[in-house]
Amino acid sequence: METKNVKKIVRDRYGKVAKSQSSCCGSTKVDADQVSKAIGYSSQELESIPDAANMGLGCGNPTAIASLKEGEVVLDLGAGGGLDCFLAAQKVGVKGKVIGVDMTPDMIDLARDNAEKNSFVNVEFRLGEIENLPVANDSVDTIISNCVINLSPEKQRVFDEAFRVLKPGGRLAISDIVLLKPLPESVRNNETLLAGCVAGAELKDKYLEMISNSGFENIEVVQKTQSSTEELNLNERDGDPVLVVEGEIINIEDLEEIKDDVECIQESTQSITVTAIKPK
Ligand SMILES: C[S@@+](CC[C@H](N)C(=O)[O-])C[C@H]1O[C@@H](n2cnc3c(N)ncnc32)[C@H](O)[C@@H]1O
Repeated sequence: METKNVKKIVRDRYGKVAKSQSSCCGSTKVDADQVSKAIGYSSQELESIPDAANMGLGCGNPTAIASLKEGEVVLDLGAGGGLDCFLAAQKVGVKGKVIGVDMTPDMIDLARDNAEKNSFVNVEFRLGEIENLPVANDSVDTIISNCVINLSPEKQRVFDEAFRVLKPGGRLAISDIVLLKPLPESVRNNETLLAGCVAGAELKDKYLEMISNSGFENIEVVQKTQSSTEELNLNERDGDPVLVVEGEIINIEDLEEIKDDVECIQESTQSITVTAIKPK
């Protein structure tokens, strides 16, 4: 798939997700709290952030392992409604600052609205692409990201940009979906599975190699879990195999072109949380 097409598909889908946050929910919607707890957020953390920021779109809890300190500058790649930004904002305090970047205008509107209504003064949301970060060189202490880099068709560039904007000694703490083995062509070309953080995922070894290629050191996989369907005991619903895509339960039998690849998808994907350091 061409880079331009991938971005358009992702932007369109997440634009709809952001808009549906303020409208009614379909019957297939999974409970966002249930998803977020399954991937590692505590009830206390979820109660401390605006409700509308939690859409169950993540695949880990990167702020939990980012060792954030008061006064630090934090950058969230693909901030969505701002869930991780609002958690980070509480950790860095008013002397610190959190910047959330997202390329979907409706997500940025939602995130800014969440910040304003809940008086978060140390969080700023910027419209932009993570492949061309609207952030100065050597200006950030910690980069976090949750279930976003798999959606980028230019992952090496994302890690190069992350390296550029981090201060020497700065840290990376990202949760993402990776592959344990290659996916068939039919799955890789499926738009629903692309936006659903499956089809664009990279092989785990290659993903870690890209982080290293950018110059990062001390690269560590600190957590790994299977897909959120397993964490939610949701591999099946009424006997049919399902996937959770953009917070919706999708019956795989309905995705005609890939229904024979169900087992392969479930066996191939893993969500990992990785930390790394930009050397001084
Ligand atoms: C799966 S959602 C995760 C949102 C948020 N991190 C969370 O956990 O709630 C992916 C987000 O990344 C954004 N995104 C995807 N590709 C991007 C890119 N290349 N540049 C900037 N944002 C991107 C989407 O607009 C969407 O808001």
